[in-house]
Amino acid sequence: MTDQKIERVAVVAAAANHAIGKDGWMPWELPEDLKRFKALTLGKPMIMGRVTFEAIGRPLPKRITIVVTRDTGWSFDHENVRVCHDVESAVKLADEIAKADGVNEVIIAGGAQIYHLALPYTTRFELTEVHADIDGDTFLDPLPTDQWTESAREKIKNPDGPDYSFVTLDRVAG
Ligand SMILES: NC(=O)c1ccc[n+]([C@@H]2O[C@H](COP(=O)([O-])OP(=O)(O)OC[C@H]3O[C@@H](n4cnc5c(N)ncnc54)[C@H](OP(=O)(O)O)[C@@H]3O)[C@@H](O)[C@H]2O)c1
Repeated sequence: MTDQKIERVAVVAAAANHAIGKDGWMPWELPEDLKRFKALTLGKPMIMGRVTFEAIGRPLPKRITIVVTRDTGWSFDHENVRVCHDVESAVKLADEIAKADGVNEVIIAGGAQIYHLALPYTTRFELTEVHADIDGDTFLDPLPTDQWTESAREKIKNPDGPDYSFVTLDRVAG
């Protein structure tokens, strides 16, 4: 297991104008996206910013959450929660947990600050493109098309709001 290659997968839903959040939560309800998030992340270590973690309020079941905060006094008493004070350490710890647990992916679970800081380590995006401009206060960095190549796309019709697409983007080698 020591030579196992670990993929660092950012899972994120973003509007056409790159909005991903508003008032500490997501500015939409996309049930299929929540199901996909669960399917993509179960059993894998997740790296999450302190703001997103506290908005959820608890670790999601069957996943170890590594919370990133500058606050050395911050703690959360739960067997599935770890704390790191920089993203590099969080990625290293997530890789170790993945190897120990026999999985080959770690999840970058946001929010915007963590997607940004983890970008140099990210090897794949599982992006949900929401096909509308959405009023938000938190935004994903644009992903340059020369650095990311699309390997899968599935469109979801949404009778209750904007349609959306599940898109896989792999980092261009080199
Ligand atoms: N659409 C999506 O898929 C999606 C996914 C996740 C989140 N979101 C949304 O994104 C929003 C939250 O994102 P956000 O960017 O405001 O917050 P965030 O990335 O969840 O967390 C930010 C926190 O990370 C810590 N941090 C940042 N830089 C650091 C560094 N260099 N070293 C150590 N710790 C560092 C700080 O914690 P301390 O302040 O404790 O030091 C900072 O306040 C919410 O609206 C949420 O709903 C959307």
